[in-house]
Amino acid sequence: MNPATGKLFIQEVAPRDGFQNEAQFIDTDDKIRFIDALSECGFAKIEVTSFTSAKAIPALRDAEAVMQQINRRPGVVYTVLVPNLRGAERALSCRVDEVNLVMSASETHNRANLRMSREQSFAQLRDIINTLRGSGVAINVSLSTVFGCPMEGDVSVDEVMRLVDGFAQLDVRSMTLCDTTGMAYPTQVNEIAAQARQRFASIDFTLHFHNTRGMALANTMAALDAGIRRFDASAGGIGGCPYAPGASGNVCTEELVHMLNLMGYDTGVDLQRLLAVSAALPALIGHDVPSQLLKAGPRWRTHPAPAA
Ligand code: COA
Ligand code: ZN
Repeated sequence: MNPATGKLFIQEVAPRDGFQNEAQFIDTDDKIRFIDALSECGFAKIEVTSFTSAKAIPALRDAEAVMQQINRRPGVVYTVLVPNLRGAERALSCRVDEVNLVMSASETHNRANLRMSREQSFAQLRDIINTLRGSGVAINVSLSTVFGCPMEGDVSVDEVMRLVDGFAQLDVRSMTLCDTTGMAYPTQVNEIAAQARQRFASIDFTLHFHNTRGMALANTMAALDAGIRRFDASAGGIGGCPYAPGASGNVCTEELVHMLNLMGYDTGVDLQRLLAVSAALPALIGHDVPSQLLKAGPRWRTHPAPAA
């Protein structure tokens, strides 16, 4: 394998993808402290919350308070997930840096998650994109279930490319291909990422993996090989979509950064600081987290030899 070179962009999503899936409400002040600590870790972007319906995602019903009270560190892009026009208005009122518009590549998941057809979602997102043009607020579009849907099974790559093309025609320059329930596998990731980059050179793609079936780091390698340089990840490996059966945690940020640092990539992330932030998560959310690295410690941590 060639030595790794170049800068990667690590985007932390635990405050949104992680906290949205927690049964017990996390206090607003605790969320703010957690995000402020993440801001000191060197991420390119932090997904702070989502402006969704409080009925759909009660865990993030304090989105305005969180977005307004965090300390925004210069150089970090603070983004929020937005599913519809109402969400976009709420996000703009909090002066977000970016809105992360979401719809699903699968019709069934789109209806389960957003209670709309894909056509209706696309129309709402198109209106938001047209409204935001020239406003200075950046736009990212996330497509869920790109690598498989827990209800439909395989999702047609042609359908995925058709949706990407629809957004490319609206001059969207930033898109995320999401593996919502860990159905992606490395050869598939490599093929889809390469095809997307080749067909849509004007779009900067992020890959968003979940580790539901233990393939997230392998999928990251396959995406790197296809030229992808932006990755979503979640501290502690928490996360999951409440409207996708069987969904579980994202690729764990500290495990991702640990691996990429060892390989010589520049992730910009301070692993020691991040480990300290992740170590506080079990107390914050009231249960253990999937991170293996938190338990084992980094590769350079050695143990005393047993007494002879
Ligand atoms: N923010 C806050 N409230 C919203 C809202 C938003 N973005 N969009 C709709 N609502 C409110 C409406 O005002 C209405 O409130 P009321 O019952 O007090 O009158 C209620 O939610 C229902 O509105 P409606 O337009 O019929 O929405 P819906 O019930 O069909 O839900 C979504 C549509 C998209 C708002 C909802 O499914 C949703 O928030 N989904 C997000 C799911 C998600 O985040 N999944 C994980 C990430 S991929
Ligand atoms: Zn996700």
